[in-house]
Amino acid sequence: MHDLNFRLPSFDAALAGLPATPAHAVESDEAFWGAVGSLYSTSQALTNLENGYWGVMAEPVKAVFRHWTDRVNHENTLLIRDHWPRALEQLRRTLAAALGCDASEIALTRGATEAMLALIAGYNRLQPGDSVLYCDLDYPAMRYAMEWLRERRGVVPVRFAIPEPATRDSVLQTYADMLERHPNTRLVLLTHLSHCTGLVMPVRELAALARAAGAEVVVDAAHSWGQLDFDVRSLDAPYVAFNLHKWIGAPLGCGCLYIRHGSVSRIDPYFGDRDFPADDVRSRIHTGSPNFAAWLTIPAALQLHQRIGAHAKALRLRHLRDHWVGRARALRGVEILTPDDTSMVAGMTAFRLQGRTTTADNDAIVAALRDAHGVSTVRRTGPARGDVVRVTPAIYTSPAELERLLAGLRSVTGADS
Ligand SMILES: Cc1ncc(COP(=O)(O)O)c(C=O)c1O
Repeated sequence: MHDLNFRLPSFDAALAGLPATPAHAVESDEAFWGAVGSLYSTSQALTNLENGYWGVMAEPVKAVFRHWTDRVNHENTLLIRDHWPRALEQLRRTLAAALGCDASEIALTRGATEAMLALIAGYNRLQPGDSVLYCDLDYPAMRYAMEWLRERRGVVPVRFAIPEPATRDSVLQTYADMLERHPNTRLVLLTHLSHCTGLVMPVRELAALARAAGAEVVVDAAHSWGQLDFDVRSLDAPYVAFNLHKWIGAPLGCGCLYIRHGSVSRIDPYFGDRDFPADDVRSRIHTGSPNFAAWLTIPAALQLHQRIGAHAKALRLRHLRDHWVGRARALRGVEILTPDDTSMVAGMTAFRLQGRTTTADNDAIVAALRDAHGVSTVRRTGPARGDVVRVTPAIYTSPAELERLLAGLRSVTGADS
């Protein structure tokens, strides 16, 4: 009774019933991905190519979430009051093992935004007159926070644009130039995988560039973990924020922040937190009562993620991206916002129709794809050269569904006529 160590037999059975992840050519093994897809129940009203907002849970994970939701609302504090601290520590250990770091380097949050804002706002190494850098492809809430540092710390925020088309060299050169032009830079915002275009930033190299210039990076990894296969240490960055409710498949309300060993003193305790000692990462965020059921479902989501395989997921998502991008590139007037360089792209990619750069232009394209072709995408504003339409398949998307997008693209570019 009131024990948080519980396993749902239907969850274990569902995972046991999944075929083994193929060792070769997994990305195009439709039988395997069909079996994975059958774990999901999603609306068929439209072909959903807007899986970037958040990720739906697989049915077996949803069953675990229901289990915990029922119990949290039945047992109330009998379940949580005594058992939660121990359960939370177990959760941190599970999560840290999956991320490839120490449990003492992470704290759970309700999402990436909460984690990023705590890191940016708390960064205490800034002096009036210092510069902080961010770019057009960074997420709006984080760009706002970088601007707000002007009022909070008296710094000079500098915004710049990532070149189009972006390449690894052009991205590295742009940050190198910005750091040279602004030698007082102390903090650089990096988005590992841009929500606007899908561009993947060479974070490790950029962190090294920043370090050499006397600056540190704060990394928004909201979209990357689960879409790409990596562990946090490979980024070689001191401050990173993650989402678990996008590509890990946990319930909404799950994220975490990472502060590398030795860096915690550079982030202020969150609103003067006194629950934890000053050298404890947990004092850098204070969420109050979280959605206990959501957080208790994290291990199940991670287990499914690992059962399918982080590497297999990354390969499949890029395969789906390559499927439509390869054909769309041949259509006149279609600009693809990510390069094919496998180190710079994942599953999500945006396109722009030449000359159609306004919000209204791109809303109209999204509406045409939806209304005439039954395909759901989303317009993104941010890139300095103009708005774009973002296309985000999920691991349950089939190549056949991408053909509907391609039919829509042929129609909106006039290739049909
Ligand atoms: C790059 C990036 N950062 C942060 C966020 C915010 O995530 P959340 O709203 O889950 O906190 C998103 C959401 O799409 C994102 O794409």
